[in-house]
Amino acid sequence: MNRKGIILAGGTGSRLWPITLGVSKQLLPIHDKPMIYYPLSVLMLGGIREVAIITTPEDQAQFQRLLGDGAQWGLQLTYIIQPSPDGLAQAYLLARDFLNGAPSVLVLGDNIFFGHGLPEMLAQADAKAQGGTVFGYRVADPERYGVVDFDANGQVRAIIEKPAKPPSNYAVTGLYYLDARAPDLAAQVKPSPRGELEIADLLEIYRAEGSLNVERMGRGYAWLDTGTHGSLLDAGNFVRTLENRQGLQVGCPDEIAYRQGWISRDNLAVRAKIYAKNDYGRYLAAIVAERV
Ligand code: G1P
Repeated sequence: MNRKGIILAGGTGSRLWPITLGVSKQLLPIHDKPMIYYPLSVLMLGGIREVAIITTPEDQAQFQRLLGDGAQWGLQLTYIIQPSPDGLAQAYLLARDFLNGAPSVLVLGDNIFFGHGLPEMLAQADAKAQGGTVFGYRVADPERYGVVDFDANGQVRAIIEKPAKPPSNYAVTGLYYLDARAPDLAAQVKPSPRGELEIADLLEIYRAEGSLNVERMGRGYAWLDTGTHGSLLDAGNFVRTLENRQGLQVGCPDEIAYRQGWISRDNLAVRAKIYAKNDYGRYLAAIVAERV
């Protein structure tokens, strides 16, 4: 599949002020890595090598400084500016030229996924050339998200954005596989009462024509939020707990690039040297030495 990736990393991060007054939310640390490493890793696990990163005008330079052109990971990164945060569906309008008729996977730059079997789940979604796939994940506080309304047969009746009375506990995660029509269909979406081009309205177009697949991401997965000070810290602690216990990294683009065969062992050794003073570098060096 010639699918391309989009990471939406714009927004004002207002719920995390004052921290995000000076730095983009998606550059904040989640334990030992910048937040955007995690959604980027998800795209890479899904086999995506061409990725557009959408940022605010002010933050673009910092993302470029961090990630460069992606060649260090065998990727091609493109940077796109979102002049003002007018809703998630706007990502498809901004990325139209980049996509150039290709199907896409959009991931929100503040979403963290973890789970055994994630690559297989992504491969299944990728294989579907027509229509779209999104993921439903059970949460305790669905009113904070887009929520799936299932009918008695388990069919999706609607996806409702931040409902006061949630019809289920299934939130739609910030990972959207859509076919090549997404930019055209996004152009049909009208601003919502809060003035945004809602992703829920774009998904509704797919649902209404019967081409939206909602996969349940089961209890064996973690889908973590980073939207509040508390959940940001929780996400960092989650990653730290796993990494310390297993001695394996979560969301490590260097490792994924190597295991996908996109960079050589020599390339990885160069990367390991850059970080030689810390655990990240020692981890990469251990992979180079085949001790992981
Ligand atoms: C957005 C979407 C929502 C989705 C959520 C996932 O909400 O509008 O449908 O469930 O991302 O993170 P936001 O976090 O931008 O309020």
